[in-house]
Amino acid sequence: MQNTVNFIKEKTNDFQPEIGIILGSGLGELADEYCDYALPYTQIPNFVKSTVQGHKGRLVFAEISGRKVVMMQGRNHFYEGHTMQEITYPVKVMKSLGIKTLILTNAAGAVNESFKPADLMIITDHINFTGSNPLIGENDDTMGERFPDMSEVYKKNLVDHAKKCARDLNIDIKEGVYWANSGPSYETPAEINMIRKLGGDAVGMSTVPEAIVANYCGLNVLGISCITNAASSSSGTKLSHEEVIDAAANAKTKFKSLILEIVKSI
Ligand code: HPA
Repeated sequence: MQNTVNFIKEKTNDFQPEIGIILGSGLGELADEYCDYALPYTQIPNFVKSTVQGHKGRLVFAEISGRKVVMMQGRNHFYEGHTMQEITYPVKVMKSLGIKTLILTNAAGAVNESFKPADLMIITDHINFTGSNPLIGENDDTMGERFPDMSEVYKKNLVDHAKKCARDLNIDIKEGVYWANSGPSYETPAEINMIRKLGGDAVGMSTVPEAIVANYCGLNVLGISCITNAASSSSGTKLSHEEVIDAAANAKTKFKSLILEIVKSI
């Protein structure tokens, strides 16, 4: 960790971010527009490199709305074959760089039937159905407790703040529970029925491992899903990664303005 942090500090002239933002599939444009320093994951000691199309794979440092932020333009996923520890390592790095708040974003399928593609959903809670947990293994007591409380992973004040920002911008905003599967296969119709019955509103393949680690190490977490498709298309059309990327692109203008507003006064 010290290696990673020293490398980043040296390359960024000791940039001290207060907020971390993980940009999900198709939502990475913010880091193209605001970029003071960019470090490809391939160059950062101990980072694993992203293999998914639509995920650039670099750590970007910038001032946004007057606040110093570090953005992950693209993330690593469990389904790529990385371990839970590997995919959540950057969260611990951002914590060590000094962030207090982490904004997690993703593309997700709609389970709640009132959601439609390009809707934005504030995550109020999650269900970890990945079959694993990033905190498995020896605990680092300097980072957090062995059995961390998860009763308010997504801080209520941040949920309220994000909702207020959306209202101020006239953006229609949803809220709900994010259900995480490991992927990479999308869900079957039976699985979507199950998720709906068990309380999920949106489903995806990321975010939850990062949220668990962030909460564990004392970060305030805000989560925003960009709804990209009806999960397991009830219309009978096949779901593809292209559809997901396209729908995220349709939402990117309002997504960007919402993030800018949230960051301004978080
Ligand atoms: N299922 C799982 N992950 C996803 C989906 C989906 O329907 N859409 C975008 N990410």
